[in-house]
Order: sequence, then structure tokens, then C-alpha cells
Amino acid sequence: MPTVLSDRDRRKRDDRPDETFYAEPRFVTHADDAFLARLTELYASVTEPGDRVLDAMSSWVSHLPDVEYARVVGHGLNEAELAANDRLDEFVVSDLNADQSLPFADGSFDVVCCALSVQYLQFPGPTFAEFARVLAPGGTVVVSFSNRMFPTKAVRAWRAASMAERADLVERYLDAGGFAVTDRIAERPGGDPFYALVGTLP
Ligand SMILES: C[S@@+](CC[C@H](N)C(=O)[O-])C[C@H]1O[C@@H](n2cnc3c(N)ncnc32)[C@H](O)[C@@H]1O
Repeated sequence: MPTVLSDRDRRKRDDRPDETFYAEPRFVTHADDAFLARLTELYASVTEPGDRVLDAMSSWVSHLPDVEYARVVGHGLNEAELAANDRLDEFVVSDLNADQSLPFADGSFDVVCCALSVQYLQFPGPTFAEFARVLAPGGTVVVSFSNRMFPTKAVRAWRAASMAERADLVERYLDAGGFAVTDRIAERPGGDPFYALVGTLP
């Protein structure tokens, strides 16, 4: 497994366990309405009815379109946020910076979504390899981000990078997980810049 981030790159200003920072629920959105609408449109274009969807690093909203999926599973750090997310059929709480394994069988999903959160991953190589493991062959991961973040919890490599460099970094994460980059989007639908990378498994 190639190391994507050096020990220095993965450093956070607040190095307490992430569950401490995310202990209290935040019922807010982390980008403007135009960003979130564009994300929903992207999800609509890469998913199909009947798909099995994992919303990794989720909260109380999943930004998914009004499509009938077979199963939508949420994953994150705050139980109250996930319990309030009415798009989820079920959810799990786990800290990907403490343990990159997810409690799902190989090939359990068709799509993994990771919205507005990738900047917090300290071990992106093993994490994206785990996303690949839980996806079926030909599965898709959609990683979206903007220029907002909790700066004390984002890794140093992210804080130090320009937006284009952040997209390059996510490309490296996808590559480490065994995904081919099939789309790379940089737009400004409203005030917040909209960046998304789509990775696809062979
Ligand atoms: C800015 S919020 C984005 C939430 C949601 N995806 C959205 O679009 O609104 C960042 C999310 O990342 C999750 N997160 C942060 N660090 C994490 C970690 N180490 N392991 C798992 N999830 C984490 C938190 O639960 C939090 O909900």
C-alpha cells in the first residue's frame, strides 16, 4: 500500500481523538445551497435506482437525489446527526483515523459518497482501499469538497494546498485505492467553489 501522506502531511493542529471534536452534533450545512444542489445533480448522474449507497463521513444530510436506492447506509462520527438523517436505512459510527476498516462485507455497495470531509482523513491510502473493498467491481466513489474546513482538524497537506493541489491530492488518494479517475470537476455554481472527483473501479 503506497503511503500518500507523510507523517508531517497528516498532522492536525488538534490531535485529540476525532470523537472528541465531533462529540456534539452540528445540525448545519457545510456549503451553500448552490454547492449542495450541484452535488445532488452529480449524484443523480452517477447513480441508478436500486444502487446500494454508502455515505461515508456523513451527518444529518446526505444530499442524495430523490431516487429509490436499494439501501443507503451512513457512516460518521456523531450518532445524533446520523440518527437524524432520514435518508439513511442504517448507520455505523466509526473513526477512520483510528481504524480504517469498515464493518461491511466485500462488494456490499455500488457507490460510496464522501462529501465535504476528505480533508480530515489522516490515512487516505488505507481508507480509499477500504472504500474499494466494500464496493462491487465497477463501483464508484464520489469525493466532493469546497474551500471550507474545520482548520484544526484538517491535515496539514490540505491546509497548505491550493484548491487545484487539493484536487491533485484527492487524485492520489483515489489512485492509492485502486480507482481510475473518471471525472474531475471544478466549478463555481454559487459562492462556494464546487470540486468533485469521481473514481471508478475496474
Ligand atoms: C464537514 S462534516 C460533513 C458531513 C456531511 N458529509 C455533509 O456533507 O454535510 C465532516 C464529517 O466528517 C466526519 N468525520 C470527521 N472525521 C472523521 C473520522 N476520523 N472518521 C469518520 N468520520 C469522520 C464527521 O462525522 C463529520 O460529520
